[in-house]
Amino acid sequence: MVFAMSAPKAENLTWHAGEVEKDARAAAHGHRGAVLWFTGLSGSGKSTIGHRVERRLIERGAFAYVLDGDNVRHGLNSDLGFAPEDRVENIRRIGEVARLFADAGGLVLSAFISPYRHDRDRVRALMGPGEFIEVFVDTPLEICEARDPKGLYKKARAGEIANFTGLDAPYEAPTNPEVHLETERLSVDEAAASVVRYLEEHDILGES
Ligand code: ADX
Repeated sequence: MVFAMSAPKAENLTWHAGEVEKDARAAAHGHRGAVLWFTGLSGSGKSTIGHRVERRLIERGAFAYVLDGDNVRHGLNSDLGFAPEDRVENIRRIGEVARLFADAGGLVLSAFISPYRHDRDRVRALMGPGEFIEVFVDTPLEICEARDPKGLYKKARAGEIANFTGLDAPYEAPTNPEVHLETERLSVDEAAASVVRYLEEHDILGES
């Protein structure tokens, strides 16, 4: 299956620009919009760290929101499974949703395995310079499997789940992520703090 990035199927469409500029939205929110794209194996801590960052941002009055793998698969992407083409479409749709949130001035925290480098780069290409922040939640497979918070590695090893990332489906680690979290050496709070620090240092968020 081939998914075009921005060539609509329909004809006679006109892009409507609107009256509010990006800077006005940023001024209203007190920060710029951006996508923080957490990527890592199942059980690596993407969601946990993403939710902690969201809490820290909300405490500062920011407009922040987590898009989470399992949740989105209950709704928007409930028609998709884990075959390679489904994962591609999963990330394509989420990328578009994340772009809309960021365009609205939000800080989007997306927490999906997003195993293919090409798909993550395609989302990056949707965004303006500096607006896509790839956060590599770098937790070795052995540790994710030992934690196994949802018991899925066990099921996959028992042959009850096919195409499981890290076992019989690939994970392509980021080569040059904006933020690299080696979770073996960081608490959830420390990991969240380094993400927030990145936002401050890159003028996405004002210093608190
Ligand atoms: S992605 O690969 O398409 O980005 P996504 O992040 O949406 O994956 O969903 C991953 C979550 O789905 C995992 O954390 C796990 O709970 C569940 N899951 C179920 N089956 C699989 C599978 N075959 N591979 C990976 N995760 C799976």
